[in-house]
Amino acid sequence: MTAPRPQRRVFIKSYGCQMNVYDSERMADVLAPLGYALSESPDTADLVVLNTCHIREKATEKVYSELGRIKAIKRERAAAGERMIIAVAGCVAQAEGAEIMRRQPAVDFVVGPQSYHRLPELIARAHRGVDELLAADFTPHEKFDALPSARGATGVTAFLSVQEGCDKFCTFCVVPYTRGAEYSRPSDAIEAEARTLTRGGVREITLLGQNVNAYQNDRGGGLAALIRRLAAIPGLARIRYTTSHPRDMDDALIAAHGEVSALMPYLHLPVQSGSDRILRAMNRGHTAESYLRLIERVRAARPDIALSGDFIVGFPGEREADFAATLALIREVSYAGAFSFKYSRRPGTPAAAMASRVDEAEKDERLVRLQALLEDQRRAFNAATVGRSAPVLFEKRGRHPGQIIGRSPYLQAVHCAGPDSLIGQIESIAITAASHNSLAGERRVMETA
Ligand code: 5AD
Ligand code: SF4
Repeated sequence: MTAPRPQRRVFIKSYGCQMNVYDSERMADVLAPLGYALSESPDTADLVVLNTCHIREKATEKVYSELGRIKAIKRERAAAGERMIIAVAGCVAQAEGAEIMRRQPAVDFVVGPQSYHRLPELIARAHRGVDELLAADFTPHEKFDALPSARGATGVTAFLSVQEGCDKFCTFCVVPYTRGAEYSRPSDAIEAEARTLTRGGVREITLLGQNVNAYQNDRGGGLAALIRRLAAIPGLARIRYTTSHPRDMDDALIAAHGEVSALMPYLHLPVQSGSDRILRAMNRGHTAESYLRLIERVRAARPDIALSGDFIVGFPGEREADFAATLALIREVSYAGAFSFKYSRRPGTPAAAMASRVDEAEKDERLVRLQALLEDQRRAFNAATVGRSAPVLFEKRGRHPGQIIGRSPYLQAVHCAGPDSLIGQIESIAITAASHNSLAGERRVMETA
């Protein structure tokens, strides 16, 4: 009889965007056949993977401080005669490469987002103590072809990566350099993955891409054609997609919002600024006016659609009048939710060389004003749902006994008393209260005894 293979443990920590969350799950899939089970903490892990984000300076620095902590654990484990491998993945890996190992020699290898299928080989080489452990090329098709395609579903909702990379070159952004050119996954592979997920109990899929609406369908059509195809999968009740660029919102996608009932009425469409002067300096390829007209067209197709966005304050050269234009645009659109950031200078991007930097105190002050307005809008949006009912897809148990939690079509968390059997189901729930970041609801039809 052969002894069972000793269980190894991997701790994977994701930073940044949902694409990294998806990639971390795929890394876990690649590692499972090697005997790696997921660990909740680095303390007991044989392999630690930090899946990093490079988008703003703060995100990058977080990784180095985490590496300092993990290095201390590695040292303790080594004193006990145990080997721990530390890997850095994601966009910092892609952007900084071998520099990471120079800055933190406890790191065993560095693997960029297109090379996760090479993890088994990189781990084996790290165990053998081979030098030069850097895998950071730009071949997304190889990545998608080589990663295992059938995944076990783990919940009611799932991410599905359909597109990677960006050709837009906004002057502030590192993504075109860390994730490479736009690449769309073949639609058959996407459909197969969606079917596997749905068979495993997934009811809602969020299609992911750095520029997801730039998706080019190999069977013709863009993202709209893909969404229509996926909407036909039995059991798949909800489809979302993120993140989009205003330039790629084509007529077919707008029409799909009005016609495909599984496509949720919530659209994340970043505008970044409301000032045409700043939008031009950002190389966004749209104006405030063209963005507003686009929103009008989307709302004409789907009147109940809710909008979300990303905003940057303090881009080089941003004056009070530019910032006021951003506030005016926000008032005109009215967002259900949004992300907002202070401009962070990223070496190597065109904006990093731009003069007239806005000072930190000014950025802080603008961010506070911007976030106060966005917060008011979010609160008003949530409050408007009280007294109405919403179809809620239940995802999990809540913290209190007998409580379950789901989401409305607008991504609002809804808490409600109900049986576990509702998890995975959609039920119309009466919304009774709105708190800071969730809604409380009641079932209208109580179960009969
Ligand atoms: N500084 C601040 N925010 C940034 N973003 C991207 N690059 C930067 C930067 N250098 C923001 C944009 C983008 C979101 C993902 O992150 O708003 O839409
Ligand atoms: Fe970055 Fe602009 Fe591409 Fe978005 S569209 S990933 S902000 S370069």
